[in-house]
Amino acid sequence: MLTVNALNHYYGQSHSLRDVSFEAKPAACTCLMGRNGVGKTTLAKCLMGLEQTRSGEMLYRGIALEKLPAERRAQEGIGYVPQGRQIFPLLSVEENIRTGFFAGNSKTHKIPDSIYELFPVLLEMKNRRGGDLSGGQQQQLAMARALVIEPMLLILDEPAEGIQPSIVQEIGNVISMLSQELGISVILIEQKLPFIRKVADSFAIMDRGNIAATGVMSELTEDLVSEYLVV
Ligand SMILES: Nc1ncnc2c1ncn2[C@@H]1O[C@H](COP(=O)(O)OP(=O)(O)OP(=O)(O)O)[C@@H](O)[C@H]1O
Ligand SMILES: [Mg+2]
Repeated sequence: MLTVNALNHYYGQSHSLRDVSFEAKPAACTCLMGRNGVGKTTLAKCLMGLEQTRSGEMLYRGIALEKLPAERRAQEGIGYVPQGRQIFPLLSVEENIRTGFFAGNSKTHKIPDSIYELFPVLLEMKNRRGGDLSGGQQQQLAMARALVIEPMLLILDEPAEGIQPSIVQEIGNVISMLSQELGISVILIEQKLPFIRKVADSFAIMDRGNIAATGVMSELTEDLVSEYLVV
């Protein structure tokens, strides 16, 4: 689904991604892990076209993403839930979900019932303002917004950050369902280990702009965890 090859990115003089290579398979959840500041969000932004890469390639279903403008990447079926959710606090829940249509290229702008089936709380609250929702509900809202374009690849940047445990569990169930039942390739950026172990199929660990290790979940050893993840 996605193959990233020797990707390099700079913020000014600062070399933030160094020859990053990893792969995300269809119908699977690949977790991009690593401590704060190692470059996880930068990599997500490069995939979405919100940051320009210096060199390397990002091949998505045979398309060289680095050659496509940001808006085309969404139209090709890449959904993105940014870190910190970034919903519109003054718009209603329903209006927030609708903003997701602007990213895609579908003609119909009807919110599919399946979105509210995944997140029943959003149906209950569809006329409330986004800013009135709890952090966990806002995260669900940001996911719903990303899902209206029916993405084939979905990038989630720390969806469990600052969220109450019951909703983290619900979000985990939705991620498993999206990858296993709907066949979506999910790239989950995450630091919470129990959550990762529950939903991810494989991992790529980042360290100071590098990929330090990759593998399937059973290959995530305690040594790797203590070297690259535990603070
Ligand atoms: N807009 C920017 N300009 C300059 N440097 C930046 C910018 N954004 C991030 N950085 C730096 O690039 C490095 C990688 O940041 P990034 O946000 O990608 O890390 P991260 O792994 O997502 O961290 P976290 O887990 O805290 O979200 C950090 O050193 C950060 O300070
Ligand atoms: Mg980040």
